[in-house]
Parts: sequence; C-alpha cells; structure tokens
Amino acid sequence: MSKPITTRWNQRSQQLRLMIGRTTVAKAKVEDTNGPGGWIRNLNVAESYRRRGLGRRLVEEALQMARTGGCEGMGLFVAVDNAPAIALYRQTGFFIIATSDCRKYYVMAYRFNTAS
Ligand SMILES: CC(C)(COP(=O)(O)OP(=O)(O)OC[C@H]1O[C@@H](n2cnc3c(N)ncnc32)[C@H](O)[C@@H]1OP(=O)(O)O)[C@@H](O)C(=O)NCCC(=O)NCCS
Repeated sequence: MSKPITTRWNQRSQQLRLMIGRTTVAKAKVEDTNGPGGWIRNLNVAESYRRRGLGRRLVEEALQMARTGGCEGMGLFVAVDNAPAIALYRQTGFFIIATSDCRKYYVMAYRFNTAS
C-alpha cells in the first residue's frame, strides 16, 4: 500500500507543503488568505512526483484556505511559456486576466462565487 499524502502549513513562512512520510513532494507559498485576494507563489512539485495530481491538490488546498479566509479570489503569476503550469491552473479554475509589462508572465485569477 502506498504511503498517505499529508498536508503541512507553516504560518511563519506561509508555506503549504504536501508530504509523503518525511519527504516534501510539493510546496507553494500561499499569501494574504485573510485579505480580499490571496496569492499562490513558487508552486513546485518534486520532479519524480509530477503528473500524479499533486499540483492540482496543492492548488485546491490553497483555494480552500483563501475561501475559508474570506477572500474574493486568488491570483498568481506564471511564465507565458510554462504550458504545464498554465494547464494546471486552467484545470483548477484560473483564467488569464493580464500579461505583465515585460510580456514574460501572465497574471491568472480565480474568483469565488460570492453571490448569495
Ligand atoms: C507545473 C507543475 C506544478 C504541475 O504539477 P503536477 O503535480 O505534475 O500536476 P498534476 O499532476 O496535478 O496535473 C494537473 C493538470 O495539469 C496539467 N499538466 C501538468 N503537467 C503537465 C505537463 N507536463 N504537460 C501538460 N499538462 C500538464 C494537466 O492538465 C494535468 O491534468 P491531467 O493529469 O488530468 O492531464 C509541475 O510540473 C512543476 O512543479 N513544474 C516546475 C515548477 C513550475 O513550473 N511551477 C509553476 C510556477 S507558476
């Protein structure tokens, strides 16, 4: 049986990690989840653990933190040539809202449905 994946949150470093045993297999900074809009930064899945749904799980957990914190949405920057990451973010509900001035990054956003 494969080992379970556990989640760790470090408030001081604002880092969300997925662990298998004692090994960090995926991590991201998740910032400002108690303000109007949270941010995901530096998302990374260890190379040998990619294409197993860990990136998606990390993004979904970050979204859940922001939703619980009362955010209206989340944002992130992604390099325009990073097709795997863009596909992951689209799949989890983000969409492109802008391109950086230098044209190297997209700004992507996720909006929670706050209509009641
Ligand atoms: C981008 C990254 C985080 C994806 O993590 P992952 O755990 O492999 O992604 P998942 O297995 O959760 O994949 C979810 C979806 O993302 C897309 N995706 C992920 N890797 C992909 C690839 N190499 N090519 C195309 N689409 C890809 C697919 O749509 C996938 O869904 P599917 O498996 O049903 O086809 C990972 O490749 C990574 O760490 N890359 C280096 C760091 C990086 O670029 N970080 C993003 C910074 S903005």
